[in-house]
Amino acid sequence: MKPPLLALASLLLPSPAATLRLNVTANQAWIEHTPLAYTNQFSPLYHNAPGPRRNATTVLPVLAEGGVATLSSSNRSLLVIGANAETQGLKQYATHKNYRLIYVLASVPYRLVARRASGIRPGHLGDLRNKTIATFKGSSAEVFVRTLLADVAGLKDDDYTLVSGNMCMREPCAENSLPERLKRGEVDAFGCWETAPELAIQGMGEGAVAVFQNGTVYREVFSLYATAEALRDKKQRAEVVRYLKAVGETLEVFKKEPERAWKFVGGLLKLPEAVLRNVWADHIWGPGSLGKDLVDYLEKEDEYLARVDKRPRMSRKELEKFVDASAYEESLKL
Ligand SMILES: *[C@@H]1O[C@H](CO)[C@@H](O)[C@H](O)[C@H]1NC(C)=O
Ligand SMILES: *[C@@H]1O[C@H](CO)[C@@H](O)[C@H](O)[C@H]1NC(C)=O
Ligand SMILES: *[C@@H]1O[C@H](CO)[C@@H](O)[C@H](O)[C@H]1NC(C)=O
Ligand SMILES: *[C@@H]1O[C@H](CO)[C@@H](O)[C@H](O)[C@H]1NC(C)=O
Repeated sequence: MKPPLLALASLLLPSPAATLRLNVTANQAWIEHTPLAYTNQFSPLYHNAPGPRRNATTVLPVLAEGGVATLSSSNRSLLVIGANAETQGLKQYATHKNYRLIYVLASVPYRLVARRASGIRPGHLGDLRNKTIATFKGSSAEVFVRTLLADVAGLKDDDYTLVSGNMCMREPCAENSLPERLKRGEVDAFGCWETAPELAIQGMGEGAVAVFQNGTVYREVFSLYATAEALRDKKQRAEVVRYLKAVGETLEVFKKEPERAWKFVGGLLKLPEAVLRNVWADHIWGPGSLGKDLVDYLEKEDEYLARVDKRPRMSRKELEKFVDASAYEESLKL
């Protein structure tokens, strides 16, 4: 039993929850992060909502540069939610077993764009044998290129040359970036997230390129992450659940009112609407499944990452623990 005076004092002192800050971290150059920016600016859960929905224990979330790696700064007064593709999520989880994948913002089947002038025909991925392919090494883009070529065309790592490339996401593109190097024939193909592939297709013309994509073999699973400690803490968990609710409402706008989303995303990233329109269908917004098929998918990717990162594979049990759908499920009941 607490002495009555102490109990009274704890009522009068500001509780940690009163100063709890939600810090959402993401790379803010990418389309995938834009629902987070939209949520910050427009979510009725943080703005103008009457009644209990406005019953905020935090102020508006801070949206900062970063990703899953910033979860290490999460503490009782700073709640961090990081956003990244599954690749960085798995790489971080390998050494931080308290990180949890709690939500899928978007599934994005990346595209590989090849020069037909290099002898690569549409529908013939095998034509990439002996070719030079650029990607963003060490990222989900490399996982995509390697997996697509292996699983669809049966090409091994040394059947082609993989080089690093700077990816241009917005015109004008620098001479040493993709797609400029593809246009000049310095590389025969490149694979990455949008909008670099779309800029190549528009810049070179559809007739000059062969485009490859297979969402079953590889899709980016752009996700939100939080720590197990935050999910266990009652107040922090409530904030996480509320935030997922707000993000879910944003994704409904992104799915059902694309014109509104293009206007917002175009303004934020300074991208022309014509580019956004063409890449929108490659962004499947929303959590989809956080169940067995996601764990299967992560298990396969982890097998690849363990090999390149020279570490042991994670067990099925560990990967099942990594995916924690419980906060998302609670957010559906709010
Ligand atoms: C939010 O996180 C970023 C990245 O870790 C950090 O730079 C920034 O200071 C944090 N903001 C607050 C208000 O704590
Ligand atoms: C927790 O995060 C806040 C905000 O960034 C910071 O001021 C504080 O020093 C951190 N506390 C600990 C124990 O790391
Ligand atoms: C690829 O290169 C290898 C080794 O140089 C050569 O033997 C093979 O014929 C080449 N294959 C194609 C399709 O060009
Ligand atoms: C994706 O690749 C798999 C494995 O090669 C294949 O079975 C499937 O038909 C492909 N899907 C599409 C849409 O091409």
